[in-house]
Amino acid sequence: MPDFSDTLVDRLAEADHVAVLTGAGISAESGIPTFRDPGGLWDEFDPQELANVEAFLDNPELVQGWYRHRRQVVVEAEPNAGHQALADLEAHVPSLAVVTQNVDNLHTRAETGTVIELHGNITDNYCMDCERAVGAEAVDVAIQEGEPARCPDCEGLIRPDVVWFGEMLPADAMARAEAVTERADVFLSVGTSAVVHPAAQLPVAAREQGAYVAEVNPDTTGVTDDVHETIRGPAGDVLPALVDAVAARVDV
Ligand code: OAD
Repeated sequence: MPDFSDTLVDRLAEADHVAVLTGAGISAESGIPTFRDPGGLWDEFDPQELANVEAFLDNPELVQGWYRHRRQVVVEAEPNAGHQALADLEAHVPSLAVVTQNVDNLHTRAETGTVIELHGNITDNYCMDCERAVGAEAVDVAIQEGEPARCPDCEGLIRPDVVWFGEMLPADAMARAEAVTERADVFLSVGTSAVVHPAAQLPVAAREQGAYVAEVNPDTTGVTDDVHETIRGPAGDVLPALVDAVAARVDV
């Protein structure tokens, strides 16, 4: 049984607003590699080589091919018990928002109502020049033909709709994330190393404005010293048990 406090269960059961920040760890049990764990994505590839605009312009086929591979992994993955538990938690609290650094779409596929994507969505692509949205199939066809995928309207290069190193986060998503953090009564930080800003600032900001802040992670993170409580364990074990406990408390 995961080790969380009665205080956390009480605070969740009484909360008007709950906000959850998620990172790659919540999708690890769906078979999607994390970034910084041993065997994670960044171990295998050099991010500086692939996840920035200069690298993309230098070698669009390589970068489009890498994202195609990652997109296939994501499309074949299924939401796990952790994603599902957060979707279930919505039934027991008046308002819940999930702020995610993940680009894998799994919170949405688990039917969580409010999902704020800070780093984009790997299933979407758009033209760098005219910003027209382009379906993944067109990218796949071009790659199979050994060509960089280009816009059918203006011949611009097609890029994934994700935030690369050196790029700003989407301003509207960040503003919404800050707003839900500002009003949260309880804030959960789940499956993130919490070293990449500005997302890593959100648990700290939540605590500063008075939220009860807990993290769910098998390991120490950049915000472990800032939270009220750390629950050590995989999200797929911890979150279902936590949500069951909240449901039992709410139903009393
Ligand atoms: P990281 O790879 O940095 O961290 C993954 C975290 O998940 C670690 O703290 C692990 O201990 C934890 N973890 C592993 N398995 C878990 C499980 N089953 N349950 C719960 N936690 C588990 O991934 P992020 O924190 O998401 O940004 O990385 C943040 C950003 O860094 C990414 O969004 C990406 C990268 O640069 C961009 O690409 C813009």
